[in-house]
Amino acid sequence: MGYAILKQLHITCVVISISLFLLRAALQFLGLPWRQRMTLRIAPHVVDTVLLGSALWLTFSLHQYPFVNGWLTAKVIALIAYILFAREALKEDARHRLVFFLVALASVTYIVGVALSHSPSWGAL
Ligand code: HEM
Repeated sequence: MGYAILKQLHITCVVISISLFLLRAALQFLGLPWRQRMTLRIAPHVVDTVLLGSALWLTFSLHQYPFVNGWLTAKVIALIAYILFAREALKEDARHRLVFFLVALASVTYIVGVALSHSPSWGAL
């Protein structure tokens, strides 16, 4: 697969993944039973698997890797933070849901900034 198509796939998955997180969080804030919808339970896993697969493929194509290149290390660490915070925010009996939701959003925003600038500090340093 060509690099441009792969990157487009990665970006498309990013958009869908963030949208699904926002949708599930909104339904959770409204107290609506989104877990009863099989699509909303399964789709995030499918999209996130393709997102990670395309990420790995992109790193091999670029010959740049996490724990070798700082911006990719920052992406992986922030991704883990995003997953953990998002999981807390979406828990049925979550305490401090709003805080976890906002920190998850900040984490994924940071990842997008790192991706666009290829820099852990968004090019500020
Ligand atoms: C939620 C997680 C992620 C988000 C939101 C995200 C976001 C993005 C975005 C928006 C781009 C396009 C940047 C541009 O237009 O130049 C991109 C590209 C890329 N991402 Fe991710 N990404 C994520 C996870 C990862 C992970 C975990 C890795 C690697 C370990 C990774 C590796 C890459 C690579 C290598 C590119 C191509 C950069 C280029 O061609 O300039 N991404 N990512």
